[in-house]
Amino acid sequence: MVKFVQPKQKLANKIKKIGVLTSGGDSPGMNAAVRAVVRCAEFNKIECFGIYKGFDGLISDNINKLNARSVKNIVNKGGTILKSARSNEFRSKEGRIKAKETLDKYQIDSIVVIGGNGSLEGGKIFEEEHGVKVIGIPGTIDNDLEGTTFTLGYDTALNTAVEAIDKIRDTAISHNRLFFIEVMGKGSGHIALNAGIGAGAEEVLIPEKKMGIDRLLKSLKHSEKSGKSSSIIVVSEGEKIGDNVFKFSSYIEKNFPSYEIRVSILGHIQRGGSPSCFDRVLASRMGVYAVDSILKNKSKIMVGIKGDKIIEVPISEAIKGGQDIDRDLIRVCDIISI
Ligand code: F6P
Repeated sequence: MVKFVQPKQKLANKIKKIGVLTSGGDSPGMNAAVRAVVRCAEFNKIECFGIYKGFDGLISDNINKLNARSVKNIVNKGGTILKSARSNEFRSKEGRIKAKETLDKYQIDSIVVIGGNGSLEGGKIFEEEHGVKVIGIPGTIDNDLEGTTFTLGYDTALNTAVEAIDKIRDTAISHNRLFFIEVMGKGSGHIALNAGIGAGAEEVLIPEKKMGIDRLLKSLKHSEKSGKSSSIIVVSEGEKIGDNVFKFSSYIEKNFPSYEIRVSILGHIQRGGSPSCFDRVLASRMGVYAVDSILKNKSKIMVGIKGDKIIEVPISEAIKGGQDIDRDLIRVCDIISI
């Protein structure tokens, strides 16, 4: 096989050492991204250090040099070999000073932060205070970063959710039951809406579309009249109609004695598992782009994807508050669930 390899980047400012960490809730594809960062660094003759347990690893000097072989056999693995954490200490100025001291000890001045909103915000503050160059890779199942159509792990989580809902449908049909299924997503309804469409839910409750309990009751009455004997309602964890999905279901039960209701919370199952091919490829592209960006002396950016193109988004934009839900998708969902 003929290998076509792009020429190496010219080293800007003689960058010799970089760090990589995973932070916040893990997401499938993080390992593939770490692998890409480490290998692209080695390809360009840069040393790459793995920082363990997110920003906590910077504070406690939990760092190890990685090479192309240290990241073998992980492209297909869920979770993150670097471990992850939501670091409370890094939220304080003192914590960030300690983190900077560790980086100085290793002479690392650029880091790749793979994580969600909070992690990228932490990276941004770190760069502002200490001049450490930060490149972000959006690693979260929530798909809630602005400027990128997809975050790493979202596709896998979505497929996990659909598979689980398909299974619940089998039992729902067998017992003529109404199921409320809660999916993750923090404040965003991307997983709920897309999994709801993909799994043929009767209703999808997401924070971006205020439905109101009365409309839901109406819709269920309509479903009953139209001959539906079982139903699946997908609820995003960020939907606050009924505070939580149990309160919600008991309210419906009171108003709908004819339905036998069950609740299922999919939970962390959505975060685990082998990444989809889409997430593996996305992670590999983003990892390489991140190191290329460091070599071009860029910083304060998150790597994203728009259409089929890998792009960069200022971190300050990316963390502004999530990308909008496609209104057309909501319409499609309403139409096909009658
Ligand atoms: O941000 C990813 C996510 O899985 C959210 O969907 C969820 O709200 C949260 O993390 C759960 O966090 P933890 O694992 O800390 O309970």
